[in-house]
Amino acid sequence: MTMDQILENPSTVTLDTLELRVKQCARCPLSETRTNIVFGEGDSHARVVLVGEGPGEVEDQTGKPFVGPAGQKLDEVLASVGITREEVYIANVVKCRPPGNRAPTKKEMEACLPYLEAQIALINPGLIITLGNTPTQWLFPSASGITSIRGTFLPWRGGIQLLPMFHPSYLLRYPSRAKGSPKYLTWLDIKRVKKWLDE
Ligand code: URA
Repeated sequence: MTMDQILENPSTVTLDTLELRVKQCARCPLSETRTNIVFGEGDSHARVVLVGEGPGEVEDQTGKPFVGPAGQKLDEVLASVGITREEVYIANVVKCRPPGNRAPTKKEMEACLPYLEAQIALINPGLIITLGNTPTQWLFPSASGITSIRGTFLPWRGGIQLLPMFHPSYLLRYPSRAKGSPKYLTWLDIKRVKKWLDE
């Protein structure tokens, strides 16, 4: 199935068929250096989709999103309010690891965007959590920097809201839990997510 067919005829596409398509993807040079694609995983009917930047080394090796050190931190953040990975869906802006963990380029993100768009359309969540600046700016170009915009519910498209949060790897660099620290602010943000889920 071509990408055009996927986008023109979303009713014939499922997350599984889309994943098969991404496995064959060579739309950008990241396909030449990847070990595995990291499509995304979780509940295909999740109310919350989390979007990171792109796979790191462990994700590239395993084909699963957020399973390295940043992933363990993300699990902790979710668990602090009783949210499990199984009840959300976790994806990235780019599905292949940028070598050396560099940020993905605009061209790479552009090449991969239709996949994320299709995932969001298929899952149809009520809330998208963008982790860090890259997915936030990518999905909401008028957003200001993550430090000022995190924790704010932004109206996105078709009734979907977007909530930017710090990227978990940022939390790994700042261990303090003091009031006003990135960890403290993230805890406030994830409590907002929990409240939204419970409402
Ligand atoms: N960082 C990300 O942005 N995504 C992953 O899947 C892992 C680390």
